[in-house]
Amino acid sequence: MGPGDLQRVLSKLELIDDPRLLVGISGADDAGVVRVSDELALIQTVDFFTPIVDDPYQFGVIAATNALSDVYAMGGQPLAALNIVCSPTEVADLDVLAQIIQGGYSKIVESGAVLAGGHSVSDKELKYGLSVTGVIHPDKIVTNNQAKLADRLVLTKPIGTGILATALKREAIGEEDFEPAVSSMSALNRDAAEIMVKAGVRAGTDVTGFGLLGHALELACASGVGIELESSSVPLFPRVLELAEQGKVPGGTKRNLEHARPHLIIPPALPEVMLQILADAQTSGGLLMCVPPDKLDGLLKDLDAKGLVNAVIGRIVDDHPSRINLL
Ligand code: CO
Ligand code: CO
Repeated sequence: MGPGDLQRVLSKLELIDDPRLLVGISGADDAGVVRVSDELALIQTVDFFTPIVDDPYQFGVIAATNALSDVYAMGGQPLAALNIVCSPTEVADLDVLAQIIQGGYSKIVESGAVLAGGHSVSDKELKYGLSVTGVIHPDKIVTNNQAKLADRLVLTKPIGTGILATALKREAIGEEDFEPAVSSMSALNRDAAEIMVKAGVRAGTDVTGFGLLGHALELACASGVGIELESSSVPLFPRVLELAEQGKVPGGTKRNLEHARPHLIIPPALPEVMLQILADAQTSGGLLMCVPPDKLDGLLKDLDAKGLVNAVIGRIVDDHPSRINLL
């Protein structure tokens, strides 16, 4: 669902306060966090979707990487995962399903978690993903409401998976042009999360379906701060700009932009197509971290040493709270 519809549905739920719930649905964070003891909290998240690539094994890899990411975005470590499979019974090719689950399993194993079970239902359209439980110390949770004045925004993967996937579907590009996005979507955010936790970062999120602007806005709103975003510093996959200019932009991306637009300060010279790119719905995107200035150099070096993208794309400001000023 788009961010607007989701807010409208969730606002109808009358929530009961419970001190065990450290992060719940009210703050639009990446995952829920529940206290177990003074030393242990559980991170819980679920994510599944329709195939984004033709190869079943690769789809499983990407769906699992995407689901695991919300645990990393909270600064935690995956502990256990459950498969979620929706499959058209009549045409179900069991070998295809087996390959999807095998791809997902490979990432669960790589994350250090165990596969503990799953659930399958028949559905018109094939879907796959995971419910993931992670662990974290209750005092070390990385949330979207702790962004502080002068923090620098660091992004760890390029933007444009939605536009590239749409271009591939419309046969505007071939598999070889989609490859950089596939390998990025297939890479766990584990190393980036470890570096984030080591640096003592306390605010962040990952960039997924609501796009960079949508998730940055959630951060700004939850933290009660403003954001200054340098559009030209945002790393893009090759060909994304050109494809967006040709109108290869997914519907979800356009909806993301319309939801974000009232909260943006847009310079007249910034092309509309750049806004679409910044709002592009991402699958298995990178971490967006709020890094205190004194921690920045060390964190960037650590990301670089692991071969990760380490782009500084903006900063936290105290004017225009809950809005993004695009530079
Ligand atoms: Co997330
Ligand atoms: Co999610």
